[in-house]
Amino acid sequence: RMRKLGLEVVVQAGAGEAADYSDAAYMETGAEIAADAAALWGQADIVLKVRAPSMPPDGPSEADLLKEGGSLIGFVWPGQNKELVERLGKRKATVLAMDAVPRITRAQKMDALSAMANLVGYRAVIEAANSLGRVMGGQMTAAGRSAPANVLIVGAGVAGLAAIAAAKGLGATVKAFDTRPAVREQVESLGATFLEMKFEESGEGEGGYAKEMSEAFVAAEQALIAQHAKASDVVITTALVPGRPAPVLLTSGAVVSMAAGSVIVDLAAEQGGNCPLTERDKMVEKFGKKILGFTDLPSRLARQASDLYAMTVFNLLEDVYDEKAGKIELDLEDEVHRGTVVLYEGKLLWPPPTKPRPRSA
Ligand code: NAI
Repeated sequence: RMRKLGLEVVVQAGAGEAADYSDAAYMETGAEIAADAAALWGQADIVLKVRAPSMPPDGPSEADLLKEGGSLIGFVWPGQNKELVERLGKRKATVLAMDAVPRITRAQKMDALSAMANLVGYRAVIEAANSLGRVMGGQMTAAGRSAPANVLIVGAGVAGLAAIAAAKGLGATVKAFDTRPAVREQVESLGATFLEMKFEESGEGEGGYAKEMSEAFVAAEQALIAQHAKASDVVITTALVPGRPAPVLLTSGAVVSMAAGSVIVDLAAEQGGNCPLTERDKMVEKFGKKILGFTDLPSRLARQASDLYAMTVFNLLEDVYDEKAGKIELDLEDEVHRGTVVLYEGKLLWPPPTKPRPRSA
């Protein structure tokens, strides 16, 4: 598809290996193979990548390898990577951040975060099932019956909803909670129960994301989660607030009161975790419960993660690439371009101005 846009494509040797795409497969589609990152970055006008350019403390940074005036599209996390953005600015780079694609209808086909979160929610259930000493669905055998497993999902955004669908698909009984009231209907339409909390405070923040809740709210929520966790075989937590550490929602006390052999999957591990006992990238056993803090779940579904990510990146590239000019041309009046651009020909344009909120009637 890039070649149809008139682009020549070069792939770094071995780039697709972990996702079961061989160099030979890329060559069959007309791509060339570059021996290593330096060879590739040195000749590319536009670099497409997954992770932010590496910045090893003792070696050259990929950012410094970019051609002067070159372009980069990938995850950048400009808020957390100020030095990287500065270095790319010095290369007069144009940088588009996949993590900054605005969450509006027109940009859905470029929304890599949602595409990955969907996979993560599914995989969280598979990981939980793998660590749980029972099946998810109810069993009926000649010896007797057993009820379905109880699964509790805390945070029902994209990953949480995918987890609900996967757990229901395996036959579990599912309950879920989220601070954004809009979620209730989505949870119920998947056949799960939405937990009631008697506390007047809406969690709706900017752009469909959550806001940070008051201390009193979090305390009440912890009590609610503890009460339901006690009766759950699996708890999957996904609660995040943009730009903030993850809220602690499943307390150590709640973990202690869960039944032995229960499994917790903490999808907020990268942002500090929704459970204080979580250890990032590890499975730990605490008080007889397994706590999974993996942050590489998309990589555990590498082939599909790669396909989906490629689609979102290509859709963005197609939107910003001007075939006649043979380069990326942004329209800064366009909400998608404006939201996604970090640097435009070396000029820092991130963060984008916040739109005034429409006043309610
Ligand atoms: P996220 O990954 O930032 O957060 C996960 C979930 O945690 C959210 O549902 C949030 O409300 C919840 N949460 C935060 N604090 C909590 C607390 N104290 N207790 C319980 N839950 C808490 O969010 P995600 O999943 O990336 O997206 C959130 C929403 O954004 C989506 O559900 C959707 O409404 C909207 N969205 C819109 C898109 C579009 O229109 N193109 C695309 C993707 C998402």
